[in-house]
Amino acid sequence: MLTKINHIGIAVKSLEISIPFYRDQLGMNFEGTEEVAEQKVKVAFLQIGESRIELLEPTSDDSPITSFLAKKGEGIHHMAYEVDDIEAALAEMKKNGTRLIDETPRRGAHNSLIAFLHPKATGGVLTEICQAGH
Ligand code: CO
Repeated sequence: MLTKINHIGIAVKSLEISIPFYRDQLGMNFEGTEEVAEQKVKVAFLQIGESRIELLEPTSDDSPITSFLAKKGEGIHHMAYEVDDIEAALAEMKKNGTRLIDETPRRGAHNSLIAFLHPKATGGVLTEICQAGH
């Protein structure tokens, strides 16, 4: 069902401050930024091998990343695993009793479709599954 780690999401206060660290000091390939209005975040993607990290900066006070930063500070926010068919993966998880936050996919960056599993189902690790956009 899951094919690989697509990306690791990292909550940051400021993309402007964080991007140069990953791009210039760690030498990752900066792919650009995108605002995902539905999730009230601005996202930067940095590619490393076949995976990416996704830096998440909140764009509003009621963004989920704003409350994450207030509670935990900057750091790893979620793991994202790739699936070929997100509808099939969600149906399978519903059937096998995996608790979900999103029962239907929503839109992520790069036209992807994403859904979050419930952290109670994953030992406290917020887990996203995503189907790449076309
Ligand atoms: Co993500």
